[in-house]
Amino acid sequence: MKKINKICCIGAGYVGGPTMSVIAHKCPEIKVTVVDINANRIKAWNDENLDKLPVYEPGLKEIIAETRNKNLFFSTEVDKAIDEAEMIFISVNTPTKTYGKGKGQAADLKFIELCARNIAKVAKDDKIVVEKSTLPVRTAQAIKNILDNTGNHVNFEILSNPEFLAEGTAINDLLHADRVLIGGDETPEGEAAKEALSAIYEHWLPKENILKTNIWSSELSKLVANAFLAQRISSINSISALCEKTDANVQEVSKAIGLDSRIGSKFLNASVGFGGSCFQKDILNLVYIAKSYGLQEVADYWEQVIIMNDYQKSRFANNIISTLYNTVSGKKIVFYGWAFKKDTNDTRESAAIYVADALLEEQAEIVIYDPKVSEERIYADLDYLNTRSEEENRKLVTVVKDPIDASKDAHAIAVLTEWDEFKAYNWETIFKQMLKPAFVFDGRRILDKEKINSIGFNYYRIGENA
Ligand code: NAD
Ligand code: UDX
Repeated sequence: MKKINKICCIGAGYVGGPTMSVIAHKCPEIKVTVVDINANRIKAWNDENLDKLPVYEPGLKEIIAETRNKNLFFSTEVDKAIDEAEMIFISVNTPTKTYGKGKGQAADLKFIELCARNIAKVAKDDKIVVEKSTLPVRTAQAIKNILDNTGNHVNFEILSNPEFLAEGTAINDLLHADRVLIGGDETPEGEAAKEALSAIYEHWLPKENILKTNIWSSELSKLVANAFLAQRISSINSISALCEKTDANVQEVSKAIGLDSRIGSKFLNASVGFGGSCFQKDILNLVYIAKSYGLQEVADYWEQVIIMNDYQKSRFANNIISTLYNTVSGKKIVFYGWAFKKDTNDTRESAAIYVADALLEEQAEIVIYDPKVSEERIYADLDYLNTRSEEENRKLVTVVKDPIDASKDAHAIAVLTEWDEFKAYNWETIFKQMLKPAFVFDGRRILDKEKINSIGFNYYRIGENA
């Protein structure tokens, strides 16, 4: 089996950065170079000030401090890193297409194709190419076609090694992965490549946690894992709406059903809706793939997970509007949280964006506080929707650094992210500063209901009748 000494990872994002940091940390004899065409991102990964890393993840900066410029390098020299490496991970973004065939559903593979062409152009010796990005089933075929037609007699083995980390817990997830999935050709060369990749993970994970499959099962399993996880959230969120009508309590229902070991207790927290860069994109992709094979019923089944999620976000916004006497025009509503979940600075597809958009349509005045998300990012998220002009977004939305001060003269607080610090705030002070009646809408069910009610708030939370 070929021993790997040099790794290159193309794409220094939320996956490439943390995954390669952990590999470098656990495999000190391997030189790991993470490359990206985004020079600003690479500059931030190399910043002396570890609080300026482009990705916030608990535990990440400690690992970077230990490995960076020893056996972990961040660089914009893509060709050089490809040339040097024996194993190349492709970890670039695969967003939903915004144009052409499959617009709004299919994964946009242009960045993947560019990587494959770049590898084909540069490689002078045999390489193992690892799909780390989440890809539609059968993408490896396209990559292979590009790589095998270089005419330079280089042998490429393509592996699928999807990443299952969740943001906010990435380092822990990587260090203690439930399983690592490696798909590859079932030829002697394919098996050897799988072994070479497995040997890297075996530095810190038990061999029995490393699952080897054929390449198509591996590619498909990643989409299916995300679809199943998101389906649980949409299922419980659908029930949260029913709870609000029937005086049942969604948390009690979650607990009651989760104690059945066949169901299990995880991923049953009702919320304002799932966000993040993966769930929606990967389910839409699954829907598109099913349709492209003529499986309309399969496509419709999975699409319902997205429809329910959109419904949950608009239901939350509509509840704010109807509770505030059917008008929020000119009313100050404070958002606690903008990230799609706690412990990350990532806002992609965050429910907060869509709730804000619906309230802004009603001319609410929104004040936003998030401990890790920048003002620039928040405006970019709203501008991207193209619902109103950039000037209007800046006129109606203010981003603040002091969450308590923000509550002065507010009509309502909406909790959009489950940051722990929100629970510890002095809610008495917040109440005193707000206009009365003072409303709290808890999209994450994190506040202490008794306490918040006893202070005098009108408190609403997902999945429970006030
Ligand atoms: P990201 O947008 O944070 O990072 C991708 C990076 O790739 C960007 O910095 C971009 O500049 C770079 N890039 C794009 N094309 C390039 C090229 N040709 N050469 C060099 N660099 C290039 O994306 P991410 O969140 O890290 O996701 C990457 C992949 O991993 C996606 O397919 C995603 O679905 C999958 N994934 C993401 C997560 C997650 O939690 N974010 C988890 C599992 C899997
Ligand atoms: C997800 C998958 O969990 C991970 O395995 C995959 O690699 C990438 O996509 P991520 O999106 O980073 O990870 O975070 P996750 O913890 O799955 O949360 C996704 C969204 O669902 C968040 O908005 C979260 O708040 C929400 N969620 C999660 C709920 O609303 N209820 C739950 O019970 C769990």
